[in-house]
Amino acid sequence: MVGKLKKTLLIKRYFNCLLNPSTPFFAHFFITTRCNLRCPYCGVWKNDYSKHENTELSKKIIDKIYGTGVVELSFTGGEPLLRGDIYELINYASDLGLWTQITSNGTMDEEMYKKLAESKIDFVSISLDSLRKEEAKADPDKIIGAIKTLNKNGKKPNISCILNQRNMNIESIKKVLKFAKDEKCSIMLCPVVIKRGEKKFSFRVSGKEYEKNKVNEIFDFLSQNYGNYPLMDTMHFLSLSRNYMLGAEAWRCKGTRFYDIMPDGTFGFCQDFLTKQNILDDDFDRWFKEERLKDAKKIIFGCEGCVYSCYPNTEDIFSFNVFHVLMTLIKARF
Ligand SMILES: C[S@@+](CC[C@H](N)C(=O)[O-])C[C@H]1O[C@@H](n2cnc3c(N)ncnc32)[C@H](O)[C@@H]1O
Ligand code: SF4
Ligand code: SF4
Repeated sequence: MVGKLKKTLLIKRYFNCLLNPSTPFFAHFFITTRCNLRCPYCGVWKNDYSKHENTELSKKIIDKIYGTGVVELSFTGGEPLLRGDIYELINYASDLGLWTQITSNGTMDEEMYKKLAESKIDFVSISLDSLRKEEAKADPDKIIGAIKTLNKNGKKPNISCILNQRNMNIESIKKVLKFAKDEKCSIMLCPVVIKRGEKKFSFRVSGKEYEKNKVNEIFDFLSQNYGNYPLMDTMHFLSLSRNYMLGAEAWRCKGTRFYDIMPDGTFGFCQDFLTKQNILDDDFDRWFKEERLKDAKKIIFGCEGCVYSCYPNTEDIFSFNVFHVLMTLIKARF
């Protein structure tokens, strides 16, 4: 339970974000890039930062993240539960007054999910792409076990399902949706985004009719059954995802409302656009206030866009453009 004081603090920080368009709302902290799995669409584990995995260093980074005004801190990786000090770091961030969330692949020991449920974490996401072994990241029974453990221990997780080459069929998606509903968990569906070059496991259609049909079949089903499943995706995000998968222009950010931090403190406008800045550097606060937005324009200028769910959804929270929202709903046939 979020305490009364923490709630008041969070509301204050949220209003600060509303009133100041350059204040970020959300930060991802990649506390490790190590992982026990090798999902074909993920390359996070390719960069080794293990020598920076140190509790005191991570706490200093969390202090600095707090100082930038964000409301929400997301612990991610790699597999964040591989850090033995993860519960201490979560509690530390929560005590500062941050709203904390974590994403795990669901394959760690049952005991770890029990401890996670007992920590001060506000929101847990477990990645489950499919209930079929050949379409999932790992043995789905193991991942389902983690979801049930969290549920049993009073921490209902969200399910994160990444649409990729392996699970793009309506029957698999319907099964995951039904599983989420039966477990009374929320669910978020997002397409794979592949950074420049590594296209193999993304599912952006290449013009073939059967591929377009697959995409449209899934998104038509989601739009027609939007209220029947505990979907976390906004309708706007679903429409962006459909367009992205059909090969249309992707959503583009301005680099203002979120950022990512690597285990050593390296600052990124997102995970694909890291900078030379380190959040622990003496000059960081000045750069953040005076030069961040100028650099954002330069650095992410050539970005071809994305549909990483955490970023467009964050910007949506601050979107007051009714016309834009209506148009995207009409375009997406919602
Ligand atoms: C990078 S993982 C880190 C946490 C944990 N290892 C896991 O898989 O849940 C965070 C989330 O990003 C998703 N993800 C990984 N690669 C992605 C990609 N190329 N595009 C979109 N989402 C991706 C994962 O499936 C997971 O839900
Ligand atoms: S489990 Fe998560 S971090 Fe590990 S390879 Fe898969 S998506 Fe990447
Ligand atoms: S990939 Fe591009 S649009 Fe997406 S968050 Fe990063 S910089 Fe922004």
